Amino acid sequence: MAKLSIKDLDLQGQRVFIRVDFNVPLANGGKEITSDTRIRASLPAIRYALDHGAGVVLASHLGRPDGEVNPEMSLAPCAARLAELLGRPVKMAPDCVGSEVEAMLPAPGEVLLLENVRFHSEEEDNDPEFSKQLARLCDVYVNDAFGSAHRAHASTAGIAAHVSKAAAGQLMDKEVEYLTLVTQDPPRPCVAILGGSKVSDKIEVIRNMAKVVDKLLIGGAMAYTFMRAKGEPTGNSKVEEDKVELARELLAEAGDKLVLPVDHVVAKEFKAGASNETVTTIPEGTMALDIGPATVGKFADELRSAKCIIWNGPMGVFEKPPFDAGTVAVAKILADSGAVTVVGGGDSEKAIKVAGVSSKITHISTGGGASLEFLGGRVLPGVAALTDK
Ligand code: 3PG
Repeated sequence: MAKLSIKDLDLQGQRVFIRVDFNVPLANGGKEITSDTRIRASLPAIRYALDHGAGVVLASHLGRPDGEVNPEMSLAPCAARLAELLGRPVKMAPDCVGSEVEAMLPAPGEVLLLENVRFHSEEEDNDPEFSKQLARLCDVYVNDAFGSAHRAHASTAGIAAHVSKAAAGQLMDKEVEYLTLVTQDPPRPCVAILGGSKVSDKIEVIRNMAKVVDKLLIGGAMAYTFMRAKGEPTGNSKVEEDKVELARELLAEAGDKLVLPVDHVVAKEFKAGASNETVTTIPEGTMALDIGPATVGKFADELRSAKCIIWNGPMGVFEKPPFDAGTVAVAKILADSGAVTVVGGGDSEKAIKVAGVSSKITHISTGGGASLEFLGGRVLPGVAALTDK
């Protein structure tokens, strides 16, 4: 990318501040990490800095504590998990700024994890004084928190103005590389497959990707808002009434690139295991909860001939089997396609894991909101703030 990378920095004897995204799912009152994917994804940058003679200061947010100290959102469990993964001690700071933290700063080869930056409201306010206090902790700054790059906060953007060099970490580099490829110069044919419940969450993505891709396949509940816009029956399916007009505009803009489901798995109740049937016309009194096998077949025809596939959002209520079948089938088709496959974070990442095909996907993004904004054509503040090469 056009920005400085961690590999362009001379790290010997330097103290490097690496903004990571350790916003991991927690259970048991914040004590137990239920997925350490994001911590693992940050290991290449941390190891690289340590191997090249740096002392490493790590910063992240966790949850949305709204500027208050909340022990259930402490990063302490992440320090313990990171120490296990790195095989070396990770010191945990009681705060992210101030004299106590400054007295703990790491020597070369040491790692210090700062406490949740969002315990200070100045973080989300992108307060310049707070950014300066963070910058005081380091010689150089590395942003490896792709998942937070859509936030213009002090530790993701503001700090860059107060350091000599601001570079991307390995994860940030890889995320930007793949998302740039699929939004700017994808191998063709290029097919996007979008799902999820709301058209409103994906308006920019649909608009931007329709300009780039050869086909845009739509599944998930948002397909029913499009079907309503076309005047097709939707029964009790989830339709965003106030977005029907917008859906009509998007249909007109995308033309025949946009492909909707041709059959549906419907049920009378919204619950796991509900009795269901597959229909081509959604009957009154039923709601569609998944795409049907004919739709899977139709989407498979497009996906199998693609050289590049971008997937974001499930095809149905995949957390409630048997309504996961369409989503799991799509995950498997991607895995066997032989195409460059890029999967947006969040639910599609979970679906890829449920289908057991993670290792066959070219790139699974660690950023839900960030990857959506990137696919929607926005410049991410966390990337824009980095030093140009
Ligand atoms: C995420 O999980 O999407 C990122 O860590 C950003 O978190 P946020 O939506 O609370 O800013």
